[in-house]
Amino acid sequence: MDKVQDTIDLLRVYNQEHIINLLEKLDEDKKQELIEQISKIDFHQLKELYDSTKKEIVIKENKIEPLPYMDKKKLSEEQREEFQKLGEEVLRKGEYAVVTMAGGQGTRLGHSGPKGTFKLDVYGKGKYLFEILAENLKEANQKYEKVIPWYIMTSKENNEETIQFMEKNNYFGYDKDSVRFFAQSELPLLDINGKLLVGKDMKIKEASDGNGGTYSSLRASGALAEMKEKGIKWVFIGGVDNALLKMADTILLGMAIKKKVQIASKSIVKANAHERVGVFGKMNGHPKVIEYTELPEKMAEEVDEDGELKYGEAHIMCNLYTIEAIEKISKETLIYHSAFKKNSYIDEEGKEVIPTEPNSYKFESFIFDAFELFDDIAILRGKREDDFAPVKNKDGEDSPKTAKELYEKYWNRNS
Ligand code: UD1
Repeated sequence: MDKVQDTIDLLRVYNQEHIINLLEKLDEDKKQELIEQISKIDFHQLKELYDSTKKEIVIKENKIEPLPYMDKKKLSEEQREEFQKLGEEVLRKGEYAVVTMAGGQGTRLGHSGPKGTFKLDVYGKGKYLFEILAENLKEANQKYEKVIPWYIMTSKENNEETIQFMEKNNYFGYDKDSVRFFAQSELPLLDINGKLLVGKDMKIKEASDGNGGTYSSLRASGALAEMKEKGIKWVFIGGVDNALLKMADTILLGMAIKKKVQIASKSIVKANAHERVGVFGKMNGHPKVIEYTELPEKMAEEVDEDGELKYGEAHIMCNLYTIEAIEKISKETLIYHSAFKKNSYIDEEGKEVIPTEPNSYKFESFIFDAFELFDDIAILRGKREDDFAPVKNKDGEDSPKTAKELYEKYWNRNS
């Protein structure tokens, strides 16, 4: 079988002739590398993804209802104690694991490096986001006398840098043997005509396939099997960029156990109609988060009879699952969302083009699209000042400055 000819035929079928031209110009080693990369691409899936960019996403208001939630501050003393006790039991038995999604880069933040390596200027000396997360877990370990296994999802792009950073900082005092890294998968970028982009390294440009890739990457990396071996029953999945994220909230966990749900999630009230957060709802009878990029403006601004935002229960990336739920989701294919972004590439003359306008599609699946696979999930409404200090933008809202203020205020109140 002629691998080169097969690759050429495949590229021709999928209208990627510019890659054939490139192959012809490369030396033998580079050519083999590129052929190897192409052999791993699912061109049929890519074509479907490209076709999907031509279709409009329609979110029909009438199919969406609010999702019921429990308000943490309105729980009775009895309920609080019951939840806490149920949650504590799981932690004390060592049946709890945490996953941090750290595949994203700090691009919006203007930080060149993995986002977790960003230093938040708190209390003079400053703390890295990874350090803040490690401290949160260490506190729980001490309280419940068990070391929580900590799984950190990186991307191919930042995996090495993340590991080196953690090594250099001695895992911020976390038990090194309880930390495991796994890299998420990638998908090629496509230009406006559905053509693959070529990077400076003469390979096809790929990018992380979104945080919805967490489930399948947990499975493919063997991390899920390892969790099962360790007897883990509950898995928390959270982001890397919330300085007030509580990764072992026994009330959230106890509520999930009591309600017998497979997934529980913490929410907060949306600050204003245009805050860049997803919102919870029920669509066609199934739980759902509608991302801020996809919520029609009219719906975002809609208020109920009490003057509160109708779609105002914000998803803060604080999600808890049974191990069975992770197992189930990891076998499913989640839908992909496309984002039109600026990406540099090498043109047919071999020159690098740095676009000033968006020129290509990036495809991402979202972690919360898995919620639709379940009949119900439980929501616990937390408090912004206790639970959410996002570090997203360089300046203004959700910036290091606002996160520092929230973090310091919280710790001045709670230490
Ligand atoms: C995200 C949520 C949004 C939520 C908000 C709260 C998604 C799609 N949206 O928005 O609903 O209200 O956080 O702050 O999740 N990540 C990866 N790999 C990827 C992409 C992202 O690990 O391929 C990680 C990031 O490192 C980060 C988290 O996912 O920890 C959130 O990603 P980001 O793209 O910054 O999401 P937002 O747009 O802020």
